[in-house]
Amino acid sequence: MRVRGRKPVKTLLQNFHIVDESIDAFGSVILHDEIIRDVYIKGEIIRYEVGHGGVDRVIDGGGLTLMPAFIDMHAHFRDPGFPEKETLESASLAALAGGYTTLVCMANTKPVIDTFEAAQALKQRSDALGLIDLYPAIALTRNMAGKELAPGFSRAKSGHVRLFSEDGKDVADDALFLAAFGQAACLKIPVSCHCDAGGLEAEQARQAGQPRSVWSRIEENFATERALRLGREAGAHVHIAHVSTKEALASIRAAKARGESLTCEATPHHLCLTEADAASLGSESHGRVNPPLRTEDDRQALIAGLLDGSIDAIATDHAPHTSADKEHGAPGFSGLETSFAACFTELVRKEHLSLSRLSALMSAAPARILRLIDRGTIEPGLLADLVVVDTEAVWNVDTALFRSRGQNSAFNGRTLSGKPLMTLRQGHVVFDRDFWAGNR
Ligand code: DOR
Repeated sequence: MRVRGRKPVKTLLQNFHIVDESIDAFGSVILHDEIIRDVYIKGEIIRYEVGHGGVDRVIDGGGLTLMPAFIDMHAHFRDPGFPEKETLESASLAALAGGYTTLVCMANTKPVIDTFEAAQALKQRSDALGLIDLYPAIALTRNMAGKELAPGFSRAKSGHVRLFSEDGKDVADDALFLAAFGQAACLKIPVSCHCDAGGLEAEQARQAGQPRSVWSRIEENFATERALRLGREAGAHVHIAHVSTKEALASIRAAKARGESLTCEATPHHLCLTEADAASLGSESHGRVNPPLRTEDDRQALIAGLLDGSIDAIATDHAPHTSADKEHGAPGFSGLETSFAACFTELVRKEHLSLSRLSALMSAAPARILRLIDRGTIEPGLLADLVVVDTEAVWNVDTALFRSRGQNSAFNGRTLSGKPLMTLRQGHVVFDRDFWAGNR
């Protein structure tokens, strides 16, 4: 917020490799308070003296990479209700360490976030902490019980609420699901569909003793088709969360080809890992996630989906759990602090994607889906939400060093490349790894 009559604080970020969805060049960026004022690329040599009409602060990147901060459309903050797994503060610190400044958190808390007031209360607590921009998703049905529409529909406004979602359940009753899509369509707010529940065929396969890998695939494929059909009928914007099978992706691709209004996301764990990794972690314990890690064939299909635009965004599905809960089969991985490095290592280093495309998937696209027009790229006039990454860094994931209370990373012990070193939110440094601070 700019104070009237006060001279803006000018920051020069110089000697950076600047990368967003459409820039990949060396240069400098000038910030005025919380806003990006100028972007200079290549050849343009600029010199500013600190103070006296020049800039007030200089951050020299020494060739490090500057990207728009990441935007996560799908995280579980566990707050209120599950402080042993995560709190608003620990999740926010984990987000900043991972390079995220804007996040949507899911409604499967205790109590469930099913009212506009509950979402606003959580947002206000987050604003008071001043670490990240948090947009709580609101559930589709009261208490996520699937019986009646959530009270949240009556007061939600598109400017405040960025996403509706029933989280891992979707709504079992077709008529109620359709009614929820109808409400969301009137409000012009997308519905994130998790597509990991439902369908007679899946239930029969499960009861017949088929393994999870079989029935959960039938389930996801069925639930994706169903969400697309009901969303289309209601004229809603359907956002498919964590797509993981090649068949579900084919349904999404076909719906996009028909011109339907939909988007979808994939997670770093589904893009980087397979069922073999789940098996070595323990498929029903530390390797368990919804939807499950799939086959190498599915993973390759997802990568092709990133390339042809069938997949719009990468979202973490950050799902912190205690170690005891994981032992007992709680699904999900703590993902905020490894997402960039996992994707950089597996997708950019292995030359499937350019760093610009990764930036589009982690910043520009989620900003567009969430209708956050003031962020997601490095352009004059946008918020100075930025992340400095060291693309040369090679590091070992050690969950004991996580800011998140969830130590349940599927990447623990792995060597990854690329590391966020500093995160700026609205021009303020909100996260800074000590070792880089010492080198500036
Ligand atoms: O594995 C998962 N866990 N997937 C989800 O979508 C939900 C999450 C959770 O809340 O633990």
